[in-house]
Amino acid sequence: MKTSLVTRASSPCERRQRGLEARVTITSKKGKELKPYIICHMVTTIDGKILPDRWGKIPGPKSSGSLFEDTAASFGIGAWIVGTKTLKEFSHRPFKLPATKGTVGLEDFVARPDAKTLAIGVDVDGSTFWKSDEVDGDHVVLLITERTTRAYRAHLRAASVSYLVCGKQEVDLKRALDKLSRAFRLKKLMLQGGGKMNGSFLNEGLVDEISQVIVPVVDGGIGISSFFDIVDPPPKAAAHLRQMSYKKLPGGVNWFRYRVL
Ligand SMILES: NC(=O)c1ccc[n+]([C@@H]2O[C@H](COP(=O)([O-])OP(=O)(O)OC[C@H]3O[C@@H](n4cnc5c(N)ncnc54)[C@H](OP(=O)(O)O)[C@@H]3O)[C@@H](O)[C@H]2O)c1
Repeated sequence: MKTSLVTRASSPCERRQRGLEARVTITSKKGKELKPYIICHMVTTIDGKILPDRWGKIPGPKSSGSLFEDTAASFGIGAWIVGTKTLKEFSHRPFKLPATKGTVGLEDFVARPDAKTLAIGVDVDGSTFWKSDEVDGDHVVLLITERTTRAYRAHLRAASVSYLVCGKQEVDLKRALDKLSRAFRLKKLMLQGGGKMNGSFLNEGLVDEISQVIVPVVDGGIGISSFFDIVDPPPKAAAHLRQMSYKKLPGGVNWFRYRVL
């Protein structure tokens, strides 16, 4: 069996440098796939861990939540995307879904194509529940798969939550970005965790910029979620970066921005 040299011997960083993966637009057999410019923004400890619940009161005047929100808001980007675990922090607790009347197929459902701000999450099999189509005023859009049930899709429609079907078993991220770009005319997107979601995007060469707000804390835990958790780790470093800016914030907090090379 022939093994692809690209898969075996190169990291995502090397593949990008050799031009084997395009960054801004991706060309597929169907033509040009659209991709928004993606900034991955997180607050981390100096050892790259991302679970603020473990940090206690951090040095300085701001909480980790305020640091995250204030720095994120300074980008002026209205759309953010998260993994399923992080998404659950914003959704309703689970409840029993009513029986479905009628047919709910596998076509995409865009409840508010003119929504100006978006809260986007991956949910492959329908494990998040919604009573509203908004998170803090941002319209909820789920990236789902054909594994979701008709009852679940009917639930999303009833709650006016938009959804895009992006694969049979798993969400194809490139397809998802193309669909999001077209459905909502998305040009820029903030990728906001958690570590596995960030890792998937980085591993597929989809991250354009990284924004890291570092609090003066050492987590120290082995196996604690970190900035980029790539499930099938690349043989070499996942990315090389060029520093774009640095800002010192009160309380010994440091904010770095990098371009992914
Ligand atoms: N410090 C910060 O700035 C910050 C920001 C955001 C989040 N967080 C924290 O991060 C923690 C969660 O991080 P996490 O890494 O465990 O979870 P996560 O990235 O939020 O979610 C990962 C899960 O998403 C699902 N998934 C589906 N398709 C995926 C894909 N293509 N790539 C990656 N995941 C996919 C998988 O769940 P299934 O297997 O169930 O499908 C996967 O286990 C939370 O505690 C949150 O509070 C911190």
